[in-house]
Amino acid sequence: MLFTNPAAQLKVLIDDRELQQRVKELGEEISRDYQGKNLHLICILKGACVFLADLIRHLPLDISIDFMAVSSYANSLHTSGEVKIIKDLDSIIQGRDVLIIEDILDTGLTLDYLTRSLRTRSPHSLNICALLSKPSRRIKEVNAAYVGFEIPDEFVVGYGLDFAERYRNLPSISVMKKDE
Ligand code: IMP
Ligand code: MG
Repeated sequence: MLFTNPAAQLKVLIDDRELQQRVKELGEEISRDYQGKNLHLICILKGACVFLADLIRHLPLDISIDFMAVSSYANSLHTSGEVKIIKDLDSIIQGRDVLIIEDILDTGLTLDYLTRSLRTRSPHSLNICALLSKPSRRIKEVNAAYVGFEIPDEFVVGYGLDFAERYRNLPSISVMKKDE
């Protein structure tokens, strides 16, 4: 089977239909809130790319998109929450209505750092839209205006999210259980 990995078992947590339904609802909510505005979306690479692609097709607004890539603090020896910007934005955000599109809000360290860093560039407004959130893992309080699903403390893959760069192409969100 295509997605079989002998070292891991995948169990569907949120299927394709539930994802599409919720993304549509988020799109409708965002469209209502930003009616008449020029919305600038910042997609955090790589995990949020699938979510962004589906979400923007539910935004009948005047939008623009940009991408940012950050390194995970998990690769460093300390968990200060400091993240390194690997790819910065192409355009300036000063005076714009900005919405960060992220795959998952886990400890909150990444988005806490990112929002503090982006605020120094003086956007008109700055909000967060995260597809998933694991509230029980939070270290830094992060206020996300839009959250697709709250999930338990499990490692998930699919719909853009990876484990060691794999599984981003799964159409559903699955919990990855390592064999004991
Ligand atoms: P935070 O800084 O702890 O909130 O981490 C956010 C980042 O960690 C996300 O953008 C993901 O790249 C990664 N991450 C956290 N939990 C998961 C998961 O369950 N699956 C895949 N990636 C995850
Ligand atoms: Mg990510």
